[in-house]
Amino acid sequence: MDMTPHSPNSPSAPAQPVLSTLDITKLFGQVRALAGVSLEIAKGETVAIMGPSGSGKSTLLHCLSGVIVPDDGEVRFDGSTLSGLSDRDRSHTRLRRFGFVFQDNQLIPELPARENVALPLMLTGTSRGKALKEADEMLRRIGIADLGTRRPGDMSGGQAQRVAIARALVGRPSVVFADEPSGALDQATGHEVMQLLTTTVSLIGASLVLVTHDPNVANWCSRLVEIRDGLVHSDGVLAARGGAL
Ligand SMILES: Nc1ncnc2c1ncn2[C@@H]1O[C@H](COP(=O)(O)OP(=O)(O)O)[C@@H](O)[C@H]1O
Ligand SMILES: [Mg+2]
Repeated sequence: MDMTPHSPNSPSAPAQPVLSTLDITKLFGQVRALAGVSLEIAKGETVAIMGPSGSGKSTLLHCLSGVIVPDDGEVRFDGSTLSGLSDRDRSHTRLRRFGFVFQDNQLIPELPARENVALPLMLTGTSRGKALKEADEMLRRIGIADLGTRRPGDMSGGQAQRVAIARALVGRPSVVFADEPSGALDQATGHEVMQLLTTTVSLIGASLVLVTHDPNVANWCSRLVEIRDGLVHSDGVLAARGGAL
Protein backbone atom coordinates (compact mmCIF):
# COMPACT_ATOMS: atom_id res chain seq x y z
CA MET A 1 0.00 0.00 0.00
CA ASP A 2 1.20 3.50 -0.84
CA MET A 3 1.17 5.43 2.43
CA THR A 4 3.04 8.46 1.08
CA PRO A 5 1.58 11.61 2.65
CA HIS A 6 -0.29 13.66 0.08
CA SER A 7 1.02 17.14 -0.56
CA PRO A 8 -1.28 19.99 0.44
CA ASN A 9 -3.10 21.90 -2.26
CA SER A 10 -1.32 25.00 -3.42
CA PRO A 11 -2.81 28.17 -1.90
CA SER A 12 -3.33 29.75 -5.32
CA ALA A 13 -5.71 26.97 -6.36
CA PRO A 14 -8.64 26.82 -3.89
CA ALA A 15 -9.32 23.20 -3.00
CA GLN A 16 -12.54 21.63 -4.28
CA PRO A 17 -14.30 20.25 -1.23
CA VAL A 18 -14.26 16.46 -1.28
CA LEU A 19 -17.56 16.36 0.59
CA SER A 20 -20.21 19.03 1.07
CA THR A 21 -23.79 19.60 2.09
CA LEU A 22 -25.96 22.36 0.68
CA ASP A 23 -28.80 23.45 2.95
CA ILE A 24 -29.81 19.93 3.99
CA THR A 25 -32.86 19.30 6.15
CA LYS A 26 -34.12 16.12 7.78
CA LEU A 27 -37.39 15.53 9.60
CA PHE A 28 -38.20 12.51 11.78
CA GLY A 29 -41.97 12.82 12.24
CA GLN A 30 -42.39 16.21 13.93
CA VAL A 31 -38.71 16.38 14.94
CA ARG A 32 -36.54 18.63 12.81
CA ALA A 33 -33.18 16.87 13.18
CA LEU A 34 -31.46 19.06 10.55
CA ALA A 35 -32.85 22.51 9.76
CA GLY A 36 -30.62 23.61 6.85
CA VAL A 37 -26.94 22.70 7.12
CA SER A 38 -24.32 23.77 4.59
CA LEU A 39 -20.77 22.49 5.11
CA GLU A 40 -17.71 22.02 2.93
CA ILE A 41 -15.03 19.52 3.89
CA ALA A 42 -11.68 19.69 2.12
CA LYS A 43 -9.43 16.78 1.23
CA GLY A 44 -7.35 15.79 4.22
CA GLU A 45 -9.28 18.03 6.59
CA THR A 46 -10.15 16.69 10.06
CA VAL A 47 -13.47 17.99 11.35
CA ALA A 48 -14.96 17.48 14.80
CA ILE A 49 -18.71 17.86 15.13
CA MET A 50 -19.91 18.73 18.62
CA GLY A 51 -23.20 19.81 20.13
CA PRO A 52 -25.75 18.89 22.79
CA SER A 53 -27.47 15.52 22.77
CA GLY A 54 -30.28 15.52 20.20
CA SER A 55 -28.86 18.48 18.27
CA GLY A 56 -28.52 16.50 15.03
CA LYS A 57 -24.87 15.40 15.03
CA SER A 58 -25.49 11.76 14.16
CA THR A 59 -28.12 12.69 11.60
CA LEU A 60 -25.61 15.01 9.92
CA LEU A 61 -22.95 12.27 9.93
CA HIS A 62 -25.44 9.80 8.43
CA CYS A 63 -26.38 12.27 5.68
CA LEU A 64 -22.74 13.08 4.91
CA SER A 65 -21.90 9.37 4.68
CA GLY A 66 -24.91 8.44 2.57
CA VAL A 67 -26.45 6.19 5.21
CA ILE A 68 -29.61 8.30 4.99
CA VAL A 69 -30.78 10.88 2.46
CA PRO A 70 -31.86 14.38 3.51
CA ASP A 71 -35.43 15.50 2.80
CA ASP A 72 -34.17 18.65 1.10
CA GLY A 73 -30.85 20.04 -0.03
CA GLU A 74 -27.92 18.17 -1.46
CA VAL A 75 -24.92 16.11 -0.36
CA ARG A 76 -22.03 16.16 -2.82
CA PHE A 77 -19.05 13.83 -2.79
CA ASP A 78 -16.11 13.96 -5.16
CA GLY A 79 -17.93 16.17 -7.65
CA SER A 80 -21.17 14.17 -7.77
CA THR A 81 -24.49 14.24 -5.95
CA LEU A 82 -24.42 11.53 -3.29
CA SER A 83 -27.93 12.26 -2.06
CA GLY A 84 -29.37 11.74 -5.54
CA LEU A 85 -27.95 8.26 -6.07
CA SER A 86 -30.00 5.08 -5.81
CA ASP A 87 -29.67 3.09 -2.57
CA ARG A 88 -27.49 0.61 -4.43
CA ASP A 89 -25.08 3.23 -5.78
CA ARG A 90 -24.90 4.99 -2.41
CA SER A 91 -24.03 1.68 -0.73
CA HIS A 92 -21.37 1.13 -3.34
CA THR A 93 -19.84 4.57 -2.65
CA ARG A 94 -19.97 3.91 1.11
CA LEU A 95 -18.16 0.61 0.75
CA ARG A 96 -15.51 1.79 -1.68
CA ARG A 97 -14.84 5.38 -0.67
CA PHE A 98 -15.78 5.75 3.00
CA GLY A 99 -14.49 4.18 6.20
CA PHE A 100 -16.45 3.95 9.45
CA VAL A 101 -15.43 3.74 13.08
CA PHE A 102 -18.22 3.32 15.63
CA GLN A 103 -18.31 3.72 19.39
CA ASP A 104 -18.77 -0.03 19.84
CA ASN A 105 -16.30 -1.47 17.36
CA GLN A 106 -18.98 -3.49 15.49
CA LEU A 107 -16.49 -6.19 14.63
CA ILE A 108 -17.70 -9.75 14.21
CA PRO A 109 -16.61 -11.27 17.54
CA GLU A 110 -16.12 -14.81 16.23
CA LEU A 111 -13.97 -13.84 13.22
CA PRO A 112 -10.20 -13.36 13.64
CA ALA A 113 -9.10 -9.73 13.41
CA ARG A 114 -7.50 -10.18 9.97
CA GLU A 115 -10.76 -11.53 8.55
CA ASN A 116 -12.73 -8.65 10.07
CA VAL A 117 -10.31 -6.19 8.45
CA ALA A 118 -10.46 -8.02 5.11
CA LEU A 119 -14.28 -8.00 5.00
CA PRO A 120 -14.84 -4.57 3.38
CA LEU A 121 -12.42 -5.51 0.59
CA MET A 122 -14.11 -8.87 -0.01
CA LEU A 123 -17.51 -7.13 -0.10
CA THR A 124 -16.31 -5.04 -3.04
CA GLY A 125 -15.02 -8.02 -4.96
CA THR A 126 -11.39 -8.39 -3.88
CA SER A 127 -10.41 -12.05 -3.71
CA ARG A 128 -10.14 -13.57 -0.23
CA GLY A 129 -6.40 -14.13 -0.56
CA LYS A 130 -5.63 -10.57 -1.67
CA ALA A 131 -8.00 -9.08 0.90
CA LEU A 132 -6.32 -11.03 3.73
CA LYS A 133 -2.90 -9.98 2.49
CA GLU A 134 -3.92 -6.31 2.53
CA ALA A 135 -5.55 -6.76 5.95
CA ASP A 136 -2.30 -8.23 7.33
CA GLU A 137 -0.37 -5.33 5.81
CA MET A 138 -2.68 -2.76 7.39
CA LEU A 139 -2.52 -4.49 10.79
CA ARG A 140 1.25 -4.47 10.51
CA ARG A 141 1.38 -0.80 9.52
CA ILE A 142 -0.66 0.30 12.50
CA GLY A 143 1.43 -1.86 14.81
CA ILE A 144 -0.99 -4.62 15.74
CA ALA A 145 0.13 -7.51 13.52
CA ASP A 146 0.15 -9.66 16.67
CA LEU A 147 -3.64 -9.32 16.92
CA GLY A 148 -4.28 -10.67 13.41
CA THR A 149 -5.35 -14.17 14.42
CA ARG A 150 -7.08 -13.12 17.66
CA ARG A 151 -10.85 -12.85 17.82
CA PRO A 152 -12.30 -9.47 18.88
CA GLY A 153 -14.33 -11.36 21.50
CA ASP A 154 -11.02 -12.15 23.23
CA MET A 155 -9.59 -8.60 23.08
CA SER A 156 -9.68 -5.52 25.27
CA GLY A 157 -11.85 -2.61 24.12
CA GLY A 158 -8.78 -0.65 23.02
CA GLN A 159 -7.36 -3.54 21.01
CA ALA A 160 -10.70 -4.14 19.29
CA GLN A 161 -11.00 -0.43 18.44
CA ARG A 162 -7.55 -0.55 16.82
CA VAL A 163 -8.72 -3.45 14.69
CA ALA A 164 -11.83 -1.43 13.82
CA ILE A 165 -9.58 1.42 12.68
CA ALA A 166 -7.63 -1.02 10.47
CA ARG A 167 -10.95 -2.17 8.96
CA ALA A 168 -12.01 1.45 8.30
CA LEU A 169 -8.69 2.28 6.61
CA VAL A 170 -7.90 -0.91 4.67
CA GLY A 171 -9.67 0.21 1.50
CA ARG A 172 -7.87 3.58 1.57
CA PRO A 173 -11.12 5.58 1.81
CA SER A 174 -11.40 9.25 0.87
CA VAL A 175 -13.36 10.05 4.02
CA VAL A 176 -13.40 8.36 7.42
CA PHE A 177 -16.47 8.86 9.62
CA ALA A 178 -16.28 8.27 13.34
CA ASP A 179 -19.12 8.56 15.87
CA GLU A 180 -17.69 8.75 19.42
CA PRO A 181 -14.79 6.39 18.51
CA SER A 182 -13.32 6.57 22.02
CA GLY A 183 -16.64 6.88 23.84
CA ALA A 184 -16.49 3.38 25.34
CA LEU A 185 -12.82 3.55 26.39
CA ASP A 186 -11.00 4.90 29.44
CA GLN A 187 -9.19 8.21 28.98
CA ALA A 188 -5.68 6.85 28.38
CA THR A 189 -6.83 4.19 25.90
CA GLY A 190 -9.09 6.74 24.19
CA HIS A 191 -6.08 9.02 23.77
CA GLU A 192 -4.08 6.22 22.10
CA VAL A 193 -6.97 5.30 19.83
CA MET A 194 -7.45 8.94 18.74
CA GLN A 195 -3.74 9.25 18.06
CA LEU A 196 -3.81 6.12 15.92
CA LEU A 197 -6.96 7.23 14.08
CA THR A 198 -5.70 10.73 13.24
CA THR A 199 -2.22 9.52 12.27
CA THR A 200 -3.46 6.81 9.91
CA VAL A 201 -6.11 9.08 8.38
CA SER A 202 -3.41 11.65 7.66
CA LEU A 203 -1.04 9.01 6.23
CA ILE A 204 -3.53 7.97 3.56
CA GLY A 205 -4.56 11.59 2.87
CA ALA A 206 -8.18 11.00 3.86
CA SER A 207 -10.56 13.48 5.48
CA LEU A 208 -11.97 12.73 8.92
CA VAL A 209 -15.44 13.64 10.15
CA LEU A 210 -15.74 12.87 13.84
CA VAL A 211 -18.71 13.25 16.19
CA THR A 212 -17.92 13.63 19.87
CA HIS A 213 -19.20 15.28 23.03
CA ASP A 214 -15.67 15.42 24.46
CA PRO A 215 -13.61 18.58 23.76
CA ASN A 216 -10.39 16.63 24.37
CA VAL A 217 -11.32 14.26 21.56
CA ALA A 218 -12.36 17.14 19.29
CA ASN A 219 -8.93 18.66 19.88
CA TRP A 220 -7.39 15.95 17.73
CA CYS A 221 -9.07 17.61 14.73
CA SER A 222 -8.12 20.80 12.90
CA ARG A 223 -11.64 22.23 12.72
CA LEU A 224 -14.63 22.31 15.05
CA VAL A 225 -18.22 22.55 13.84
CA GLU A 226 -20.79 23.07 16.58
CA ILE A 227 -24.36 21.95 15.89
CA ARG A 228 -27.38 23.25 17.79
CA ASP A 229 -31.03 22.54 17.02
CA GLY A 230 -30.13 21.13 13.63
CA LEU A 231 -28.11 24.17 12.55
CA VAL A 232 -24.41 25.07 12.37
CA HIS A 233 -23.90 27.22 15.46
CA SER A 234 -20.18 27.84 14.98
CA ASP A 235 -17.43 26.69 12.64
CA GLY A 236 -13.77 27.40 13.21
CA VAL A 237 -10.15 26.36 13.30
CA LEU A 238 -8.92 24.36 16.28
CA ALA A 239 -5.51 25.57 17.33
CA ALA A 240 -4.75 23.09 20.09
CA ARG A 241 -4.32 20.13 17.80
CA GLY A 242 -3.04 16.93 19.37
CA GLY A 243 -5.42 16.29 22.22
CA ALA A 244 -4.96 17.45 25.77
CA LEU A 245 -6.16 14.33 27.58
N1 LIG B 1 -34.44 7.42 13.29
C1 LIG B 1 -35.00 8.39 14.02
N2 LIG B 1 -36.32 8.39 14.27
C2 LIG B 1 -36.90 9.37 14.98
N3 LIG B 1 -36.24 10.41 15.49
C3 LIG B 1 -34.92 10.47 15.29
C4 LIG B 1 -34.23 9.47 14.54
N4 LIG B 1 -32.91 9.80 14.50
C5 LIG B 1 -32.80 10.95 15.19
N5 LIG B 1 -34.00 11.36 15.66
C6 LIG B 1 -34.25 12.59 16.42
O1 LIG B 1 -33.61 13.66 15.75
C7 LIG B 1 -32.96 14.53 16.67
C8 LIG B 1 -31.47 14.56 16.38
O2 LIG B 1 -30.93 13.28 16.66
P1 LIG B 1 -29.39 12.91 16.51
O3 LIG B 1 -28.95 13.33 15.16
O4 LIG B 1 -29.24 11.49 16.88
O5 LIG B 1 -28.73 13.85 17.61
P2 LIG B 1 -27.31 13.75 18.31
O6 LIG B 1 -26.48 12.77 17.58
O7 LIG B 1 -26.78 15.15 18.26
O8 LIG B 1 -27.58 13.33 19.72
C9 LIG B 1 -33.31 14.00 18.05
O9 LIG B 1 -34.43 14.69 18.53
C10 LIG B 1 -33.62 12.55 17.80
O10 LIG B 1 -34.51 12.06 18.77
MG1 LIG C 1 -25.64 10.96 18.22
